[in-house]
Amino acid sequence: MIASLIAEKHLRYQQQAEWTKPFRNYLFRRYFKDDKIKILEVGCGTGAVLSEIKNEQCEKVKLFAGVDIDPIAIKYAKKQNFIELFRADGKELPFSDSCFDLVFCHYFLLWVKDPVEILAEMKRVTKPGGICAAMAEPCYDELRAEPKVLFELAEKQRKALSDFGANVNVGSQLNNYFKEAGFSEIECGKYRENQCDTDFIQNEIRQMVIDSNIGNFRFDPKAKYSYSVPTYFAFAEKSKVE
Ligand SMILES: C[S@@+](CC[C@H](N)C(=O)[O-])C[C@H]1O[C@@H](n2cnc3c(N)ncnc32)[C@H](O)[C@@H]1O
Repeated sequence: MIASLIAEKHLRYQQQAEWTKPFRNYLFRRYFKDDKIKILEVGCGTGAVLSEIKNEQCEKVKLFAGVDIDPIAIKYAKKQNFIELFRADGKELPFSDSCFDLVFCHYFLLWVKDPVEILAEMKRVTKPGGICAAMAEPCYDELRAEPKVLFELAEKQRKALSDFGANVNVGSQLNNYFKEAGFSEIECGKYRENQCDTDFIQNEIRQMVIDSNIGNFRFDPKAKYSYSVPTYFAFAEKSKVE
């Protein structure tokens, strides 16, 4: 049972990693052209994003490291034996100062109580001149869904995630959180505006049904569906003079 749940989560994480791949490719092109770098993902889950990076940027990375608080996720991620995995809380990373070139998280800050504390810790382990990035965080306040029946389902998902402890609007606050964590010259943006692709929407509906723990949703093939939860990213260089 647990094995199939975590395998299901991994599939979802792989899907989400695909959405944000262009952003990572951009970061690598801009900052890490010819380097052999060390990277760390905080809240790495099953290792889906690190695996995607390995596929795309293998020759540019000399160390893939991942930290997660959940032993089940870590156990699953260990299948990918190129990742150095650590079970730890993101607010106390088991590394000395300034040891990674790129430290990032992905759909993670929404799950933590104090994103600033986490970002400050991510900054601590980033080398001066290295990059800290929050690669994907949602903002459900900007949720758009049509028709109404889909909007209502998406609202149920938002409520279920909030009840579960998620800060579902963390995305739009990234700039402030980075500032409070001591970064300057922060670059922010958002991806994924309105989506009308049927496969995408059916997939998202499946996820909403799971998250909100409702029995079913009748998908009407004749209806015109559209859906988006704006998802934000932010990144900044750690200053070389601190
Ligand atoms: C939505 S998952 C995202 C996983 C991965 N980043 C991805 O996008 O594929 C969030 C992960 O954060 C982990 N997590 C939550 N709070 C944490 C904390 N305080 N420290 C480390 N990991 C944490 C969870 O165990 C979970 O694996």
